[in-house]
Amino acid sequence: MKLKLFLSSLLLQICMFAVDFEKQIKPLLESRCISCHGAKKDKGDLRLDTLEHALKGGEGGPAIVLGNPAKSLLIEKIILPHDHDDIMPPKGKPLSKLQIGHLQEWIKSGSKWPKGLSLKSITKAKTPQKKIDTEKFKKLQRYRLLVADGSKQRIAIINKQGEIEWEHKIRQIHDLQYLANGNVLFQTSFHHLIEIDPTTNKTIWSYDSGKMNGNAGKRVEVHAFQRLKNGLTMIAESGPARIIEVDNNGKIVKNIKLKVNKPHPHTDTRLARKLANGHYLVSHEGDGFVREYDPNGNVTWEYEVPMFDKSLIAATAKAPGAIKPLLVCA
Ligand code: HEC
Repeated sequence: MKLKLFLSSLLLQICMFAVDFEKQIKPLLESRCISCHGAKKDKGDLRLDTLEHALKGGEGGPAIVLGNPAKSLLIEKIILPHDHDDIMPPKGKPLSKLQIGHLQEWIKSGSKWPKGLSLKSITKAKTPQKKIDTEKFKKLQRYRLLVADGSKQRIAIINKQGEIEWEHKIRQIHDLQYLANGNVLFQTSFHHLIEIDPTTNKTIWSYDSGKMNGNAGKRVEVHAFQRLKNGLTMIAESGPARIIEVDNNGKIVKNIKLKVNKPHPHTDTRLARKLANGHYLVSHEGDGFVREYDPNGNVTWEYEVPMFDKSLIAATAKAPGAIKPLLVCA
C-alpha cells in the first residue's frame, strides 16, 4: 500500500513538470468537453471554451478556481465514480487518471491559457455508416448463437430475432461447445464440466476435474475441452498439466502428459484443441510456448511466442489498469 502511494505521488510529481496547455489541455477539452460546453451548447449554463467562461462557471458556480483544483467544479465532476449520474463527460469513456492528473496540475499551476484563444469542439470524424449487406444479414439470421458473458456470469442461446432463448448461470467460463445433438457443453466453475439439454434443462453428462481421476485435493483449472466425434470428451487440465479423454462414465481412455516448464494450475495450459490428424495444439501461457503433441504425447512442433518487449511490460505493469500480454489461445 505504501509503495502504491509512493508511486502515485511520484506520478503527480512527474506531471507537475509536464503539463502543457497546447499538448495536454486543449486537445482534451476540445475533444471531450466543448461539444456540450462551448459556443454552440452550454449545458448546465457552463462554457469551457475560454478561461473567462470557465472562471465564471455555470449553474453551480465557477468551474475553475485559480490555483485550487480541489475547489474547482471541473475537477469535482471528472473524478466522480464511473457509474455516478453526474460524472463528466457523461458519455464515452471516463477520463483516465493521467488526463485527470494533467487537469489538476494545470489548475494548480494557475490555468495558463493563451490570450484570446477560444476552443472549438473537435469530434472524431464519424466513419461513414456501412450500408448493411442485406443478403449477408439474411444469411446471418439463419443462425442461432451460443454466447458467454463472463461479466454477467451467464451463457445464453440467442435466436435469429436476437432474443434470449435459453440461459444458464456460470461462474468461470473458458470454453464452451454447441454439440451436434443440440446440447450445450460448458463449465460451471474452473473444474466442473456439464452437458445440458437446453430444451429440458436436464443434465446429460458431467465431469469434475477437481475431484476425479486422481485430482482430489489438487488445485485444477480447465481452460479447454472438446467433445470429440467418437463421443469421448477431451479435457485439458492445468495443474496436473495433462490432456485426458474420458468416456461417458468419466473413465480415462487417453492420458497425455504435457511438457510444462512452469507448472501452475492457472497458467500452465490454456486453450487446447484436438486437430483432425489426431494431434493436440496447446497454448502454454506460463512457458510462453505453443506446442503440438502427437497422440503419444511427443512434442512434434513448438513455437515460442514473441511477446512484447519484456522491459516495456515491466514498466507498464506499474501503470493503473495495466494489462499484461498473455498467451491464452493457439
Ligand atoms: C454530452 C454532453 C456533455 C459533455 C461532453 C460534457 N458535459 Fe459537462 N455537463 C453536461 C450537462 C448536461 C450538464 C448539466 C448537468 C446538470 O445540470 O445536472 C453538465 C454539467 C457540467 C458541470 C457543472 C456545471 C454547473 O455549474 O453546474 C461541469 C463542471 C462540467 N459539466 C464539466 C465538464 C467537463 C470538464 C467535461 C469534459 C471533460 C464535460 N463536462 C463534458 C453535459 C456534458
